Amino acid sequence: MAVTTTPALDAQRLRADFAVFDELINGKPVAYLDSASSTQKPRQVLDTMRDFYEHSYANVHRGVYRLSERATEGFEHARRKVAAYVNAPSERELIFTRSATEALNLVAYAWGLVNLGPGDVVVITELEHHANFVPWQFVAQRTGASFRHIPIDDRGELQLDSLDGLAREGRVKVVANNLVSNSLGTINPIERLAAWAHEQGAIMVVDAAQAAPHRAIDVQALGCDFLAFSSHKLCGPSGVGALWGRRELLEEMPPFNLGGEMIRSVALERTTWNELPHKFEAGTPAIAEAVGFGAAIDYVTAIGLEAIERHEHELLEFAMGRLAELEWVEVYGPPPERRAGIVSFNVEGVHPHDVAQILDWEGVAVRAGHHCTQPLMTRLGISATSRASFYLYTVPEEIDRLVAGLHKVKEALG
Ligand SMILES: Cc1ncc(COP(=O)(O)O)c(C=O)c1O
Repeated sequence: MAVTTTPALDAQRLRADFAVFDELINGKPVAYLDSASSTQKPRQVLDTMRDFYEHSYANVHRGVYRLSERATEGFEHARRKVAAYVNAPSERELIFTRSATEALNLVAYAWGLVNLGPGDVVVITELEHHANFVPWQFVAQRTGASFRHIPIDDRGELQLDSLDGLAREGRVKVVANNLVSNSLGTINPIERLAAWAHEQGAIMVVDAAQAAPHRAIDVQALGCDFLAFSSHKLCGPSGVGALWGRRELLEEMPPFNLGGEMIRSVALERTTWNELPHKFEAGTPAIAEAVGFGAAIDYVTAIGLEAIERHEHELLEFAMGRLAELEWVEVYGPPPERRAGIVSFNVEGVHPHDVAQILDWEGVAVRAGHHCTQPLMTRLGISATSRASFYLYTVPEEIDRLVAGLHKVKEALG
């Protein structure tokens, strides 16, 4: 019998690709536990960008000279990689944006403003990042549509028994949900929600900002209509993100930003739009950043998404086990089997900002705050948490250092 095994990931070896791990910050090596916020960048991505700037840089899609052709090929090659990464049926359905936030705004404005109206219902969830919450709330208000949410239970998991009630509130036109919650790590049942959305005649918008860097994404298997993510959470540069959209929807939508590059012809009387994906890419794009995004995709793909996911899961189980030993620490969110490598917690009686400050003195970098999920914080009855999050370069020793740092927090302030 053939046995298939996923090659293991050697995080210690991968750390050699990231210069920051060789440095001392405040006299200590950094235990970087804030990858959900943004990831560190490997040498391979930085080298690719530098090489591109030095040898292939010019504006794209405009020049007939060799250098511009080279730049355009680099940019479009990156698009093909990003499209293939999420199994998009066509690279023309892959739009480069500034970020996941801009991708979600693009859908809310360009699709929402013309397709929503009174009697329609926009459904988001109680654990949405503001990037997939505020644009929909705003566009619902502008169009007169209702804005409703799927509530969560005490473990931070969606209460799908609320769906029937939501369907009775009007014509459900949009369901927008993150695949992985950035605050709790909850892995959400997108396939199921997409099927429900389509039964209602709605579109399914997936915020994959916390999922795409950590697990294989297949837009066709998910059954969604739009999917957004950012390069900077995936070992790539900031300033570039991606929106995948179903072609027929993108074709029908008006443009989002207007200006150069996104037009077919301009006259005093009338302007017509360029073909996909350029219709949605007004102005000079983040050229070298897109190339860096492609290099980041090469980097994580070579390591293997299954190996990354498994590595993070092991770290998550280890972290949750270690934190469970501290009875003065409360951990939020679902059990490890239904969550990604993100742990939000609070130390009894200590504000998360103070926790993060003391951890910083110990060289441990965590995030503290509401993590752009204020409705979720309200639901949990808290204003903020500390959050540790993991990536392919995270090692268990960093979690040991987190726990040792929390003991210091307890001694100082608890
Ligand atoms: C779940 C989720 N969605 C959207 C975003 C927004 O991503 P960006 O800031 O790259 O636009 C984030 C960023 O933290 C996120 O975690």
